[in-house]
Amino acid sequence: MSAKATNAARSAGGERTITLEISRFRPEQDAEPVLETFEVPLRDDWAVLDGLNHVKDQLDGTLSFRWSCRMGICGSCGMTVNGRPRLTCGTFLTEFGAGPVRIEPLKGFPVIRDLVVEIDDFLAKLSHVKPWLIREGEELPLTTEYAQTPEQLEAYKQYSMCINCMLCYSACPVYVLNPDFLGPAAIALAQRYNLDSRDQGDRLDLLNTDEGVWGCTFVGECTSACPKHVDPAEAIQRYKVTAAMRSVLPWGRR
Ligand code: SF4
Ligand code: FES
Repeated sequence: MSAKATNAARSAGGERTITLEISRFRPEQDAEPVLETFEVPLRDDWAVLDGLNHVKDQLDGTLSFRWSCRMGICGSCGMTVNGRPRLTCGTFLTEFGAGPVRIEPLKGFPVIRDLVVEIDDFLAKLSHVKPWLIREGEELPLTTEYAQTPEQLEAYKQYSMCINCMLCYSACPVYVLNPDFLGPAAIALAQRYNLDSRDQGDRLDLLNTDEGVWGCTFVGECTSACPKHVDPAEAIQRYKVTAAMRSVLPWGRR
């Protein structure tokens, strides 16, 4: 038995358990969040999300949190786990040894209830960068097929892997201080289209602002937090170069 297992508590039935400290908050009636403690089974194949579902199914059905796919695809289960923004479906309980595991809502967002945060501002920022193919002189919906080489696909593919989990916003010290900052995922999304050979749009007026790429102080926490290796920090720095080049060579497009 590993040291982790030896240190873990055991239930009356002899099963290893671990303590979850879960933030509880109903803004309409509570002055501030409080941590509530639950003991859940510690199984090798259980993620933090499994622990939360155990609490909801077996111990307290009023606990509120978001999740859907349980496989790192939907992006809805992001929370702060022991101080770091993580996908709870991809974070195993055994990572935390004897525990406890503290689970709080994503930092930087208003809390609706318990672990559920408000996402309207994030969604508005995504749509603000015109995340669709823009074609000069063509109306939507586009019906023509536009061929693309593997190299052209590779130019933007990394940025298309985003699952909108918001971990990068929660990790970003600029966004936490200035909610008007467009933020990592929205800028990476804009770059996903800027770098697409089929796109003919111009997002300079959206990105070349103090709330756009110039708001970033290049801390790089967004890239460290991203579970899909999108590298929003690179997207931002790359666009700073583009914007600077266009100030001296205005005809340069990208
Ligand atoms: S860039 Fe990464 S961390 Fe940010 S929303 Fe997309 S997948 Fe999540
Ligand atoms: S539940 Fe979908 S990413 Fe975690």
